[in-house]
Amino acid sequence: MDKMIPLKINGNTKKIMVHPSKRLIDVLRDDLGLMGVKEGCGEGECGACAVLIEGKLINSCLVAVESIKNAEIYTIEGYKMTKRYAMLDECFASAGAVQCGFCTPGMILAAEALLSSNAMPTESEVRDAISGNLCRCTGYNMIVEAILMASRKGGYLW
Ligand code: FES
Ligand code: FES
Repeated sequence: MDKMIPLKINGNTKKIMVHPSKRLIDVLRDDLGLMGVKEGCGEGECGACAVLIEGKLINSCLVAVESIKNAEIYTIEGYKMTKRYAMLDECFASAGAVQCGFCTPGMILAAEALLSSNAMPTESEVRDAISGNLCRCTGYNMIVEAILMASRKGGYLW
């Protein structure tokens, strides 16, 4: 049976009438129209559906909406409003790290989760931080370079 669930999404509080076991990814896409959250595998393996929950990178396909009521959730749509996003976006573009773009929202949020706890990561820390995010296009090196570039050029932002 549907229930009224309070959610904090991208800085706004919303209440939605939804089944408590509905996956967060479906609530974000179907109920809230946040299409930057992508569905790849649906099994927690690809990171395309990643969002930030209380600052941690979480695959939203594995989360029942009721389990995160009242938690602070950010999707790429909310994160796009920040200077940190602008820096990452510029570095992804200049490193050639965006090709089809399917993985990019998850990669950008993985970069944010890393840089917010470690503003000057090593290359291996960057590789580790994005290890749950699959990219079929870039071979990862350009994405790693983009995140290292953001930490060099924009370390003051984190
Ligand atoms: S769709 Fe959630 S991890 Fe792949
Ligand atoms: S840019 Fe296409 S999947 Fe990563």
